[in-house]
Amino acid sequence: MNDAIVQVEHLRKEFSGTVAVADVSFNVRKGEIVGLLGANGAGKTTTIQILLGLTTPTSGSVRVFGKDLERHRCEILQRCNFCSAYTALPSNLKVRENLRVSGGLYGVPDLFRKMDALLSLFEIAHLKNKVTGQLSSGESTRVNLCKALLNDPELLMLDEPTASLDPNIADKVRKLLRKIQREQGITMIYTSHNMRDVEEVCDRVLFLHKGLIIAEGTPQEVITQFNHKTLEEVFITVARSGDLLEETT
Ligand SMILES: Nc1ncnc2c1ncn2[C@@H]1O[C@H](COP(=O)(O)OP(=O)(O)OP(=O)(O)O)[C@@H](O)[C@H]1O
Ligand SMILES: [Mg+2]
Repeated sequence: MNDAIVQVEHLRKEFSGTVAVADVSFNVRKGEIVGLLGANGAGKTTTIQILLGLTTPTSGSVRVFGKDLERHRCEILQRCNFCSAYTALPSNLKVRENLRVSGGLYGVPDLFRKMDALLSLFEIAHLKNKVTGQLSSGESTRVNLCKALLNDPELLMLDEPTASLDPNIADKVRKLLRKIQREQGITMIYTSHNMRDVEEVCDRVLFLHKGLIIAEGTPQEVITQFNHKTLEEVFITVARSGDLLEETT
């Protein structure tokens, strides 16, 4: 696949006795938004952390932008970014200070204009001078999203970005992510436990169960494959009978 931005082959990660990722292979094409789905502990965050170079895999290979992640880590990560609902920015810094530090690390040109544009886009310009540790979780998630877009990443990894957002803001964020993807062609890997989120945002989904991919396709393909009406029903089936599916796939 020559337009693959991410190529993962036989990825495995063990943590002293726990197999977090058993054997995972997948590709992500340029401009695609791929959802990593699965029950708690299925291996989604571990996979993302490996792609971000934060966790070393036990075995397997990861290529990003056609290059081996291990050998070209810095060069690759300069072109990526991430947002997680569970990763806090330094709490004692003001929002604008946090963004300035992150933007500085990436050498973002015209940083202050970029910061202002993103803060306005996510409707949090009024929080610019607030100390980050004093934000609500939904506010700090949106600051994290601004941080994640500062360097115009070509590959963006989003680990439950809408987890702490109220339905109104979650809806706006989903639409914004699609708009950004459309206009800038950003490739995204996205996790969420909200299946509505996933149906709206993701072009393709990979269902993980105990560190293995046991179903994949467009949300509609996967729904049809399981003979269900919604992705939520598929999720529940996969989570409850994944062991059986593992044996037949
Ligand atoms: N640093 C670690 N040390 C030991 N075990 C770990 C570590 N990180 C993850 N695990 C284990 O690996 C498995 C996969 O965890 P992971 O965080 O990837 O799951 P997840 O799919 O993101 O789940 P969730 O939906 O709850 O976020 C879990 O059993 C977890 O306990
Ligand atoms: Mg997780």
